[in-house]
Amino acid sequence: MKDHLVIFDTTLRDGEQSPGASMTKEEKIRIAKQLEKLQVDVIEAGFPAASQGDFESVQAVASVVKDSTICGLARAVENDIARAGEAIKPANSGRIHTFIATSPIHMEKKLRMSPDEVVERAVWAVKRARDFTDDVEFSPEDAGRSDVDFLCRVIEAVIDAGATTINIPDTVGYNVPHQFGNLFKQLIERIPNSDKAIFSAHCHNDLGLAAANSLAAVRNGARQIECTINGLGERAGNTALEEVVMAVKTRQDIFTVDTRINTREILAASRLVSNITGFPVQPNKAIVGANAFAHESGIHQDGVLKHRETYEIMRAEDVGWSTNKMVMGKHSGRNAFKTRLEELGVEFETEQELNEAFVRFKELADRKHEIYDEDLQSLVTDNNTQRVENESFRLVSLKVSTETGESPQAEVTLWMNGDEASALSTGSGVVDATFKAIESLVNSGSSLLLYSVSNVTNGTDSLGETSVRLEKGGRIVNGQGSDTDIVTASAKAYINALNKLESDLDKAHPQAPV
Ligand code: KIV
Ligand code: ZN
Repeated sequence: MKDHLVIFDTTLRDGEQSPGASMTKEEKIRIAKQLEKLQVDVIEAGFPAASQGDFESVQAVASVVKDSTICGLARAVENDIARAGEAIKPANSGRIHTFIATSPIHMEKKLRMSPDEVVERAVWAVKRARDFTDDVEFSPEDAGRSDVDFLCRVIEAVIDAGATTINIPDTVGYNVPHQFGNLFKQLIERIPNSDKAIFSAHCHNDLGLAAANSLAAVRNGARQIECTINGLGERAGNTALEEVVMAVKTRQDIFTVDTRINTREILAASRLVSNITGFPVQPNKAIVGANAFAHESGIHQDGVLKHRETYEIMRAEDVGWSTNKMVMGKHSGRNAFKTRLEELGVEFETEQELNEAFVRFKELADRKHEIYDEDLQSLVTDNNTQRVENESFRLVSLKVSTETGESPQAEVTLWMNGDEASALSTGSGVVDATFKAIESLVNSGSSLLLYSVSNVTNGTDSLGETSVRLEKGGRIVNGQGSDTDIVTASAKAYINALNKLESDLDKAHPQAPV
């Protein structure tokens, strides 16, 4: 019998801490439903004390997801724990994850607390969290740079106080595999009550070692991994769920653990998170990158055709890849459209939403003969990401012209808080001219940090998905747009980002000093 390895997904919390990756409540619900389909054991749905919006998002996820435990993060302070306890109330199974830093540098410079005070606060926080749920996780933040003797002291005390999971974060991605594995070995051997809790690994990827460190922890007794879809997360990101899950599945010869993950849902989860956050997946990314199963050289192709295992260690189908199949076209009806989207896990809340999506599908089918699953997903995601509550700007029309030897031009008409206005600009290309025209109307004063385009399927008639990242006064937002015309898709993404800049509210960062 293999031990169960708990998969704790923190895309909606640590993933969202990535600059520009903030998500709306509706987007979080869509991702949470996909995580439930993926059969993750625990979904960390957010940090409820960050803002009223974050609280409501965790509460909403706790209300709709029934098959995964819903977790809320809380610093070791009364308000955070009470908010987290309240937010997870609707869940079938709810967890509070409370934490306090234990490394000398964090205790001295950030918390300004003595080690004794930290132990006392940690114990208090766990006991307080137990007032709301029996499922309490404790993290000694920056454990990767903490003193092992002190970690033993804190952890023994919080297990006595009722913590059921002990998460060991390598907060700054400083550890290397043999060292991190050895830390787990020591903690589990030396802490007298270590058998009363599940030990968990939480790694950051600053040195590109997050998956390796997490797996080293598992080899040394960890029975939970904290991870995110596509490795989303602050700086270089967190451990990528798809990498650790597939490593454990593929190397059952060396791991004494297994997960309950439905790996066939991995690619859908990856695409959804990438679409919603606007963080593209690099082509050579393990498991979910476009090239992950592509064989370029003739020798490899020959080998795979003769016997696939010559060069393939996993089956592409097992993580959700399928060859592009034409699923719909111009003559497909509303029922077929609705049924296919339901099969893809997309449900419409109202008839009106379905009708609107069907109109967009017909418009797309007029321009693109073969519609694939990826097109349908993009069509629905685009509409959802475009919908910013109380949006200030909307694209009414766009006219561009380009000619060899002439400056490209764009004329944009926007709906702006009830009025229409137009502007004409030139630029180094039509996208540049379009952005300048929009900016001359809106005067946002923001800086463009990133612009990217990717095609949803192959072919020049493919839908183009664009991402625009803007920064203003330290706030970073990502906008997305999709269209068969990439200039229109770019304009939509720029406007989407501007709407988010207007509407996003400030929220507290959990790792900032209280
Ligand atoms: O990286 C970290 O230390 C965290 C904690 C809040 C667990 O994300
Ligand atoms: Zn983290």
